[in-house]
Amino acid sequence: MTGKTVLVLGARSDIAMAAAHCFAAAGYAVQLAARNAGSLADDVSDITIRYRVPVSLHEVDALAVESHAAFVDALPVLPDVAICAIGYMGDQAENERSVERTVAVLRSNFEGPASLFTILANRFADRGSGTLVGVSSVAGIRGRATNYVYGSAKAGFTAFLSGLRNRLAKQGVHVVTVLPGFVDTRMTAGMDLPAKLTAQPEEVGRAILAAVTKGRDVIYVRSIWRLIMLIIRHIPEAIFKRMKI
Ligand SMILES: NC(=O)c1ccc[n+]([C@@H]2O[C@H](COP(=O)([O-])OP(=O)(O)OC[C@H]3O[C@@H](n4cnc5c(N)ncnc54)[C@H](OP(=O)(O)O)[C@@H]3O)[C@@H](O)[C@H]2O)c1
Repeated sequence: MTGKTVLVLGARSDIAMAAAHCFAAAGYAVQLAARNAGSLADDVSDITIRYRVPVSLHEVDALAVESHAAFVDALPVLPDVAICAIGYMGDQAENERSVERTVAVLRSNFEGPASLFTILANRFADRGSGTLVGVSSVAGIRGRATNYVYGSAKAGFTAFLSGLRNRLAKQGVHVVTVLPGFVDTRMTAGMDLPAKLTAQPEEVGRAILAAVTKGRDVIYVRSIWRLIMLIIRHIPEAIFKRMKI
C-alpha cells in the first residue's frame, strides 16, 4: 500500500478499468466512479482480492454538472490522482444531422469532464498536491470530416487540460493529457482498426501509471501516433479539405 488513492471517473470504460488495476497493483486505494456504479460490484471484489487495497464505488454523471461539487464532497478522501476516462463518440453521421446529438457529444467529452476537473483542481490546489489525468484524443488535434463533432469536443478538453497544467504547475498540481490513438474497447467495437496502431486498454493503463509516476505532461501511448499527427497537422488546408480521412 502506498497510502495514496486514485479516483477513476467513467470507471465502466475498458481503459478506466485497466488503469484502476494498474494503480491498485501499485498499491493505490481505488475510488471507482461511474453511471450505474452498482454494476461494478464484481470489479470491486476482483480488485480487492487481487491487490488487497480498499476499493469504493461512487455514482457520477458527467452531464449532471450541478451534482459535481457534492460528488467530490462525498468521496471518503480527496484522492491523490484523478483519472477522467469519460467519453462518448456517438455516430458522426447522426451527430451531423442532430443538434441534440452534437450537444450530447460536446457535453459528454468537454463540459462534464471540465466541470469535474474544475472542482478537483481547485481542491488539489488548496491542498497543494494532486495529479489530474485527462483521457483526451488525437481526434482533437485536427478536425476531420469523419469525426469532427467528437474531435472538437476532445480539442476543447485538450486545451482545457493544457491551461490547467499551466495554471497549476506552481501550486503542486500536475496535469497529464493522454492522447491515445486507436484503443481496442467498447467505443471502437466493430471498427476495422490496424493492429500496429491499436493499443490494448492494459497498455493505456500502464502508460497512465508511468506518466503519473514520472511526471509526464502529454503522452501518446504508442509513439507512432506522435508522428502521424505531426504529419496530419502540417497538411495544408487547401489539400486537407479535399482528402477523405
Ligand atoms: N477507444 C479508443 O480508440 C479511444 C481513443 C482515444 C480516446 N479514447 C477515450 O478514452 C476514454 C475511454 O473510452 P473507451 O475507449 O474505454 O470507451 P467506453 O467504454 O465507451 O468508455 C467511455 C465511458 O464514458 C462513460 N460516460 C459517457 N458519458 C458519461 C456520463 N455522462 N457520465 C458518466 N460517464 C459517462 C461511459 O459510461 P457507461 O459505461 O455508463 O456508458 C463509458 O464507461 C474516452 O474518453 C474516450 O473518448 C478512446
